[in-house]
Amino acid sequence: MIPSLSLGPLLAGALACISAVGAVLVPGCQVVAPPEKNLTSVRTAEITVPAHPFGVVYAQQHDIAFVALKTSLGVLNTSAFTPSLIHEIPLPAPYVSVSGGMGIALTHNGRHVLVTAFSTALIVIDAAKAAAGSPDAVVGVLNGTVAAGHSAIEVTTTGDDKYAFVSQEDGSLQTGERGTIEVFELQRPAANGTVSGTYVGYLILGDEVVGTALSPDGRILYATSETASNGTTQGTLSVIDVEKLKTDPSKALISNVTAGCGPVRVVVSRDNQVIWVTARESNALLAFDASKLISDQSAALLASVQVGTLPVGLIFAGANERRILTANSNRFASLDPSLYGNATTGLSVVDVDAVIRGEQANLGQIPTGSFPRELAISPDGKTILVSDYGSLMIQAVDVSTLP
Ligand SMILES: *[C@@H]1O[C@H](CO)[C@@H](O)[C@H](O)[C@H]1NC(C)=O
Ligand SMILES: *[C@@H]1O[C@H](CO)[C@@H](O)[C@H](O)[C@H]1NC(C)=O
Ligand SMILES: *[C@@H]1O[C@H](CO)[C@@H](O)[C@H](O)[C@H]1NC(C)=O
Ligand SMILES: *[C@@H]1O[C@H](CO)[C@@H](O)[C@H](O)[C@H]1NC(C)=O
Ligand SMILES: *[C@@H]1O[C@H](CO)[C@@H](O)[C@H](O)[C@H]1NC(C)=O
Ligand SMILES: *[C@@H]1O[C@H](CO)[C@@H](O)[C@H](O)[C@H]1NC(C)=O
Ligand SMILES: *[C@@H]1O[C@H](CO)[C@@H](O)[C@H](O)[C@H]1NC(C)=O
Repeated sequence: MIPSLSLGPLLAGALACISAVGAVLVPGCQVVAPPEKNLTSVRTAEITVPAHPFGVVYAQQHDIAFVALKTSLGVLNTSAFTPSLIHEIPLPAPYVSVSGGMGIALTHNGRHVLVTAFSTALIVIDAAKAAAGSPDAVVGVLNGTVAAGHSAIEVTTTGDDKYAFVSQEDGSLQTGERGTIEVFELQRPAANGTVSGTYVGYLILGDEVVGTALSPDGRILYATSETASNGTTQGTLSVIDVEKLKTDPSKALISNVTAGCGPVRVVVSRDNQVIWVTARESNALLAFDASKLISDQSAALLASVQVGTLPVGLIFAGANERRILTANSNRFASLDPSLYGNATTGLSVVDVDAVIRGEQANLGQIPTGSFPRELAISPDGKTILVSDYGSLMIQAVDVSTLP
């Protein structure tokens, strides 16, 4: 693992200084991002996979990663820099018939992979069995209720893996089609390895709830809504009390802030102090002060960084989380070529220290295939995997070659 040094408090302190100098404006919407420097010197490698790859995550097992491939869970051997697809574990047909496997998470104890499939359900897979290619690796399906939503997209577990929080992007008629966070309590695996769970309830947020992230201390869940559901183009970042979410989800919301146009993914710095969000239709990476998200929302936005077109996934890289990569999806290129036809895809590399100093922080863009969507970093911090949803590719990025 990357050593955890005490740069964090300094970082938040320095970021807080920027906001003291002048309020940071929430960015509006933007169509195509300005061109970025082309980072062709970064070492990458790619493989093609048999279906559109969505969520990707490394296992705790040595040299293994998992990727959601629509009707199967792909198992990657990552012992070499260029990964290889070694197994496909079929996902249960009734749940993957509409959109297929999407979001993915590894439980903190490394035993299970959780996969969403734009349905009511959460699919539970035994990580060791999957790594070994065992066809009985699917050990459970937690099926929720239509009321909470039937468009499960991302999932996060509590630190003790006793609860799973699923973003139900579009909610249901009962929620006024506002998205929700649906809560499941996970039971300990039975002697035969099967995992069951109970549905607890849900919390209604704004429209199109997708990205979720747990604070490292396990107390707060952050979630993004693409629009606030109150007639504005801006979306929101919501701050949610994890203890309340476990017992009384509908009362768990602490606060919301506006978070640019179409915020879709969120990550939390290891020191718990800075929350980073991709605002997709703003082509921006936003940094928020975690404590001000609760105490002083109007001053919570610390920085807004211009990245590439329609960023989705984001991930920390490098020692002390000094870099952030965003997956610039340009995902609407095929839907609206007249607007997006000239835009490129890639991974913007953002220098966190330059964000602190208030300087130009975007170091350029690493070229990718089409619609780069999600990112994962290897346990040793050396390799990042990218799912190129549009071009059916998994790309590896050599972290040591980043600028
Ligand atoms: C960046 O470089 C790559 C590799 O040389 C090239 O294929 C791509 O077209 C370049 N992109 C831009 C936007 O110049
Ligand atoms: C991964 O590939 C390496 C090199 O081919 C091989 O030695 C290793 O056994 C493979 N691991 C698994 C889990 O298949
Ligand atoms: C899962 O639950 C939903 C909502 O209750 C239900 O409509 C659906 O039939 C269930 N799926 C299966 C395969 O049992
Ligand atoms: C596994 O054990 C659980 C709990 O005892 C039981 O409900 C389930 O039917 C068993 N499954 C199989 C495949 O044996
Ligand atoms: C947060 O936003 C949601 C969705 O727009 C709204 O229902 C809720 O009242 C807001 N809560 C706060 C505390 O602002
Ligand atoms: C919409 O909701 C957001 C988040 O709760 C709030 O900041 C914003 O002021 C609201 N806009 C309107 C027009 O009510
Ligand atoms: C795309 O590039 C072409 C050629 O440079 C230009 O004519 C066209 O206006 C551009 N389209 C957009 C939407 O910027």
